[in-house]
Amino acid sequence: MVFLDEDGTFRNIFDNIPLFSSIFKNREAVRFDYVPRNEREIPHRRKELRKLALILSSVLRDSVPSNVFMYGKTGTGKTVVAKFVLDQLIKKADELKKTVFVDYINCRISDTSYRIIVQLTRLLDPKIPFTGLPYDEIYMRLVEKINSQKVFFIVFLDEIDQLMKRKDDKILYSLVRMNSELRDGGLSVVGITNDLKFKETLDSRIISALSDEEIFFKPYNANQLRDILENRAEIAFHKGVLEETVIPLIAALAAQEEGDARIAIDLLRLSAELAEREGSLIVTDKHVKRAREKIKDDVLNKAIVSLPFHSKLVLYSVASLKKGQRDIITTGKVYSTYRYLCQKLNVNPLSSRSVSEIIRELDTVNLVSYDVGSIGRGRTKKIHLEVECQKIIDLLEEEI
Ligand SMILES: Nc1ncnc2c1ncn2[C@@H]1O[C@H](COP(=O)(O)OP(=O)(O)O)[C@@H](O)[C@H]1O
Ligand SMILES: [Mg+2]
Repeated sequence: MVFLDEDGTFRNIFDNIPLFSSIFKNREAVRFDYVPRNEREIPHRRKELRKLALILSSVLRDSVPSNVFMYGKTGTGKTVVAKFVLDQLIKKADELKKTVFVDYINCRISDTSYRIIVQLTRLLDPKIPFTGLPYDEIYMRLVEKINSQKVFFIVFLDEIDQLMKRKDDKILYSLVRMNSELRDGGLSVVGITNDLKFKETLDSRIISALSDEEIFFKPYNANQLRDILENRAEIAFHKGVLEETVIPLIAALAAQEEGDARIAIDLLRLSAELAEREGSLIVTDKHVKRAREKIKDDVLNKAIVSLPFHSKLVLYSVASLKKGQRDIITTGKVYSTYRYLCQKLNVNPLSSRSVSEIIRELDTVNLVSYDVGSIGRGRTKKIHLEVECQKIIDLLEEEI
């Protein structure tokens, strides 16, 4: 690119970069956090939307809604349904001049019971400090505030399983027992989880209180994913930029990935971005395939770079043996290469038993595989690398 004008002065470096996309009309519509503007933009969730709205509508008639438990695999539309209904509820309450307090909390972000109770209480009493007060005192303040202000409070707790992971489910106990301490007003919980086994991990009293009503989200099939994608594509892209086969292809691929709409929309966005970057005016199957490779590659890279240090050394040892064209890679050879690396790096090597354990772990994450057989004396493992050796060497070279 030349940045000199005819008279020899420099041009602005941005002059050659197009400011209008020939592909995207509205990029937001394929972002993961896009909030649909109306019900039509959420195809195939009519039943779930209606059920949630119907349950929560009690609050507009001044009675406390039942608690709701929503569950289903990742990418089945739970968060989008919850946020849409929440948004509509606030609008309706405003219209009817009713005071309803609603809060949406993602437990992956607000990840302790303490943080959550503070966040909720601050909605009614902004003077509560973020830290310092004991949990029980904040809980009592919340009860007091709801009683004195006679309000209805609906709390959406998304990804509640994240709390159980930290064995911190105090907030669930507090929220489900709260109604028995309220004289006026009330509190309802909409609990959401991607974990289908979540119920088994909870105290049965809590789960039965949390799930007065249940809404299950089934994975989408390829046809449903097609409708979702077409709907988004209409908002996101200029007319005619997607080749006809693109959406059916993405829908079929995502249907194989457990009917996850997030994967489908991500793939659509990335395919279009790749096309845009190479200056193509249309998005084709070729872009979809490349986008898919890229996503897979990113997942793999992340898995490799986030391994513990000694696992990286072991994986690197297998890769360098493979590169050295060893036909048969045994545990013994891996261990001696690993020890050599440790010596070079001046770190203490783990025992050969621990290295065997690491090899087993690398097998469970599909980076290597092995068969157990007898070679010469005794039993040993024959190790196969499941990823191209150069890739591992390139990724880990800098760290080793
Ligand atoms: N029926 C649908 N219509 C339109 N978009 C959807 C639908 N279901 C899911 N999505 C979109 O797919 C992505 C994943 O959905 P999300 O609600 O986050 O799933 P979950 O919370 O079940 O993991 C989001 O970007 C969401 O907007
Ligand atoms: Mg979600």
